[in-house]
Amino acid sequence: ESTLGAAAAQSGRYFGVAIASGKLGDSTYTSIANREFNSVTAENEMKIDATEPNRGQFNFSSADRVYNWAVQNGKEVRGHTLAWHSQQPGWMQSLSGSSLRQAMIDHINGVMNHYKGKIAQWDVVNEAFADGSSGARRDSNLQRTGNDWIEVAFRTARAADPSAKLCYNDYNVENWNWAKTQAMYNMVKDFKSRGVPIDCVGFQSHFNSGSPYDSNFRTTLQNFAALGVDVAVTELDIQGASSSTYAAVVNDCLAVSRCLGVTVWGVRDSDSWRASDTPLLFNNDGSKKAAYSAVLNALNGG
Ligand code: G3I
Repeated sequence: ESTLGAAAAQSGRYFGVAIASGKLGDSTYTSIANREFNSVTAENEMKIDATEPNRGQFNFSSADRVYNWAVQNGKEVRGHTLAWHSQQPGWMQSLSGSSLRQAMIDHINGVMNHYKGKIAQWDVVNEAFADGSSGARRDSNLQRTGNDWIEVAFRTARAADPSAKLCYNDYNVENWNWAKTQAMYNMVKDFKSRGVPIDCVGFQSHFNSGSPYDSNFRTTLQNFAALGVDVAVTELDIQGASSSTYAAVVNDCLAVSRCLGVTVWGVRDSDSWRASDTPLLFNNDGSKKAAYSAVLNALNGG
């Protein structure tokens, strides 16, 4: 196959991309995105600040621009994200305790109801664990509502849209030896044992010199899959875009039957949140980088 999406589809997987609504008028951007990818994640537009700028007043204008572009072009959509410490609107940042807990529940219901039956996977909870060696939860206003906030989010999400796969999504959880990975593993294991509705784990995979790719990523994916959840690479970018590292990540997903697919976090280097790292598959002029060919070759079984 000659495109990333079609090549991934040979094994029943997708190859996705983060899309920014503000770039949908850029024809170089949209022609690459439409040609190469068959799954879309909104880079910012489905986040809490975008979708509920005032409490109880939902605004899906930017989110729907991304959603409609994706569906009109035949792509599935990953929802990102419903409960997160970051990109909260001011009104939510100022809440605490039971009113914040209720606001989280109301937010999940409001957004999932708007997209009911239309989203393949939802990142229900994003980035809830602390960096470093503690293995602890990240301190946040949501965490301070009680340690059960994550399972409440998942139970709320299951009731709101039983058709969506419900994912927990985080970064620096790709290396099996990291404390954060183990903490996330123990949470998923506990959720599965107690019947908390979780279907998938997203490994963001923002690799750079501070948190480099390690070949034990495949072990991590396998170990989570063995708990009975699907896994996905959800926000892939690699500082310097090493072809061999890109191919290794793709091959790790292909090696795990429960790995649903890979999403890269932007189209061209200039679209990246870390543009100076040149971490993506396309140059600023839209031409393919060496890493693109490495990924396509891996997806084609090479
Ligand atoms: O839209 C405003 C614009 O109106 C304003 O003029 C401009 C000035 O700063 O800011 C614009 O908003 C920015 C937004 O991106 C859209 O470009 C925000 O400041 C900026 O903080 C925001 O950054 C996003 C970041 O999440 C915020 O946490 C990145 O685009 C986005 O790529 C990044 O994505 C996250 C995932 O959601 C979760 N995992 C990590 C990943 C990378 O940080």
